[in-house]
Amino acid sequence: MPVNDPVVAEQTPRADLTIDQKWDLYSPEEHGIWSTLYERQMDILKGRAAPEFLKGLDLLNLNEGGIPDFRRVNEKLMALTGWEVVSVPGLIPEKEFYDHLANRRFVSGRFIRDGDRLDYLPEPDIFHDVFGHVPLLTQPVFADYMQAYGQGGLRSLQFDTIKNMARLYWYTVEFGLIKTDDGLRIYGAGIVSSKGESIFSLEARSPNRIHFDLERVMRTDYRYDDFQQSYFVINSYEELMEATAQDFAPLYDRLPSLPEFKPSDVLPGDTVYQKGTQEYAASGGLKGHAIAV
Ligand SMILES: [Fe+2]
Repeated sequence: MPVNDPVVAEQTPRADLTIDQKWDLYSPEEHGIWSTLYERQMDILKGRAAPEFLKGLDLLNLNEGGIPDFRRVNEKLMALTGWEVVSVPGLIPEKEFYDHLANRRFVSGRFIRDGDRLDYLPEPDIFHDVFGHVPLLTQPVFADYMQAYGQGGLRSLQFDTIKNMARLYWYTVEFGLIKTDDGLRIYGAGIVSSKGESIFSLEARSPNRIHFDLERVMRTDYRYDDFQQSYFVINSYEELMEATAQDFAPLYDRLPSLPEFKPSDVLPGDTVYQKGTQEYAASGGLKGHAIAV
């Protein structure tokens, strides 16, 4: 639980682990941090973020001058795709997380990061969760994919495949890239909410950029504490939805016995847009800088 948010600390979570956002209790400083982060990211994301992400930001009007009030966001989001955003005290266990997604509820941290350390994030805050994740939930196909992911996640709890499901989320919802007529664009929340990785993921020569394949991604380990060594590219959100519109049971049966791949691997069957130099990782990267998604 974030120690710097007394509004979180004073609440006892409900059985589904949600708490009240209590929007009226955010301070002017906290609203100011949101606005600073928002403006900084919007400068960087022009020409880099997926058009559907930017459209979602507009539809929800997430820059009204501070931290969004979930009551207002949910009115719009519910009308568009039937999703809503709910507050949680911090990271929650897989079962509850999947259950919320399967019921079209996206869980968000209530707290916002420290204004003196805008790029230090020990766990996901409201800027990452709302700015990063919620805009694409206005898009029907992506919204359906998130629900399908939650349903697949609930099913994975009966198998030994929680790790594989986490990788799918990581390489799509958090760090995914999408092809457009104007070139590659970012749709992953972990990238769009990060100043450094928004540039690195698209422009650096260090990481691999490889076409998405469901089983390949589920077998690939990832960096949780630094920029990624590989990014996976989709053609469309329909491609994601189609990949998950299958009975996962045979895949879940098979996955635990299959070899795993390293984050930097490029494999003979890959469709490769860029084979990275991996010079960034070789140089030591961020050296333990916290990234939370
Ligand atoms: Fe996230």
